Order: sequence, then C-alpha cells, then structure tokens
Amino acid sequence: MPPRHDRPVALVTGAGRRVGAVTARTLHAAGYDLALHYRHSADDVRALAGELERQRGDSTLLLQAELAELPALPALIAQLLAHYGRLDALVNNASAFFPTPLGTATPQQWDSLFASNAQAPFFLSQAAIPALREARGGIVNMIDIYAERPLAEHTVYCMAKAALAAMTRSLALELGPEIRVNGVAPGAVLWPSDGKPYADQQAMLARTPLQRAGTPEDVAGAVLWLLRDAPFVTGQIIRVDGGRTLSV
Ligand SMILES: NC(=O)c1ccc[n+]([C@@H]2O[C@H](COP(=O)([O-])OP(=O)(O)OC[C@H]3O[C@@H](n4cnc5c(N)ncnc54)[C@H](OP(=O)(O)O)[C@@H]3O)[C@@H](O)[C@H]2O)c1
Repeated sequence: MPPRHDRPVALVTGAGRRVGAVTARTLHAAGYDLALHYRHSADDVRALAGELERQRGDSTLLLQAELAELPALPALIAQLLAHYGRLDALVNNASAFFPTPLGTATPQQWDSLFASNAQAPFFLSQAAIPALREARGGIVNMIDIYAERPLAEHTVYCMAKAALAAMTRSLALELGPEIRVNGVAPGAVLWPSDGKPYADQQAMLARTPLQRAGTPEDVAGAVLWLLRDAPFVTGQIIRVDGGRTLSV
C-alpha cells in the first residue's frame, strides 16, 4: 500500500458525463480527490480530469471498467488503493436505463439492467468495506423515484433500482457505526436522448410542485451533503424530485 493520500478520496462510477461528471466536480470542489470510473466515455473523462488537475494537481485517477464484469470489481478497488492508499467515499452512479416492454424483455436486458444498477454497486461496496471502515467513510447510491413508483414499460429497471434501495438500507444496518450508507433518488433531471416526448415532459413538470426539472447540481449537492455534512444519517434515501412524488 502506498502512503495514505493526504486528502479524502471519492470513487464516482460513471463519472465521464451528465450527473456523474457534475457529482465529481462538486466533490472535487469540496476537497475530495477522485477516482473517476468510466466505461466508454474516455474522451469526456479525460477532459474532466484535465480540468480538475488544473485546479488541483495529483487529484484524479482514471479507472476504466465494464461494471458487468463482476469478478473484476475487487481489482478496481485494489487499483484505487494502490494509488491513493485510502478511500473515503463511494458513489454508485453508473446505470443502464432502457425500456423492457412486457412481452419483449430478454434475459440479456435483465442482466444488463441488474448488473449496473444493483450487482456492481453491491460488489464494489463489498470490496471497498475495509478501506471505507478505516476511513469512517460513506457510500451513496444513485437510485430513482421509479424504485418506489413504477414507470410504465420499465419494469426491470424499476426492479433493479428497488434492489439498490433495499441494499442501501441493508448495508446501513450492517456497516454502522464506521460506514454510513445512503441513497439519492432523483426525479427528472436529464432526459435520455430517446426519452419522453416534449409535451409529456412539460405536462409532468406542471404536476411537480417545484415546476421544473432538477439539475445535476441539485443531485450532486445532496450527494455531498450525505457524505460530508450528515454524520447522524444512515440508511436514508433522499428524493431530489421537486416534490414530484407528492402529486398523483
Ligand atoms: N438523469 C436523470 O434524470 C435521472 C433520474 C433518476 C435517476 N437517475 C440516476 O442518476 C444516476 C446518473 O444519471 P445519468 O442520467 O447521468 O446516467 P447515464 O448518463 O444514463 O449513465 C451514467 C453512466 O453509467 C455508465 N454505465 C452504464 N452502464 C455501465 C456498465 N455496465 N459498466 C460501466 N459503466 C456503465 C456509462 O458510462 P460510459 O459513458 O463511460 O460508458 C454512463 O455514462 C443514474 O444512477 C441514474 O439511474 C438519473
């Protein structure tokens, strides 16, 4: 093991783009040095790391991995520890999201949705436990309001996120007092490129008490709060959805 890095270290999965990239920037601005995991977004993650390194040198490590390769996940944590010698925070952000209309869903789709949304977060967390325990650190899982309120034609995704919600509570029970485990459940933040039609998006936002979509910064702020500012909070899942789950 190398000498223990002198600043706290966070691993963010799926950090190249969108919510993961903003979460990485937010944690970095708060003083965390980062392990930036990516799968295909090599150009994006290199640009992000360049930006962060200009702000603070020796503050990023890139980790490439297909998270569905579950047996390889302990080696990812080992690679991180070989570089930094510590891990203070794990943000399980990477996620596959696509519809599985009944009658068409395949076992391969099931495997893909469960791998990134439930299995990888579990096996990464398991591999990270000794280091997180030593750091008295935290895990934040990116869940989804659809874990508790179903989205039509997305049964398998909703089930995978529900598994992640269950894991959040179960690990919180098992890993205290040294490690806190929480989740953030975003509502609509960034639509996928092939998401709902514009009129449907606007109708949904009109039914949302705060009458807007969330921003990645809204989500990242909740992640930072859970990791840094909530020492008596564990096993909780915070909805960051503008109040959408309150409306029918
Ligand atoms: N966007 C929203 O409005 C919204 C709403 C509710 C919940 N959420 C949750 O918030 C988190 C971030 O959302 P997002 O929209 O920013 O996510 P996203 O863009 O759909 O996906 C984030 C990253 O996950 C990585 N990924 C997916 N499958 C992977 C696999 N098998 N192995 C390794 N990496 C994989 C991809 O990395 P590469 O690009 O490097 O391949 C991708 O860039 C997710 O957990 C999502 O479920 C988002």
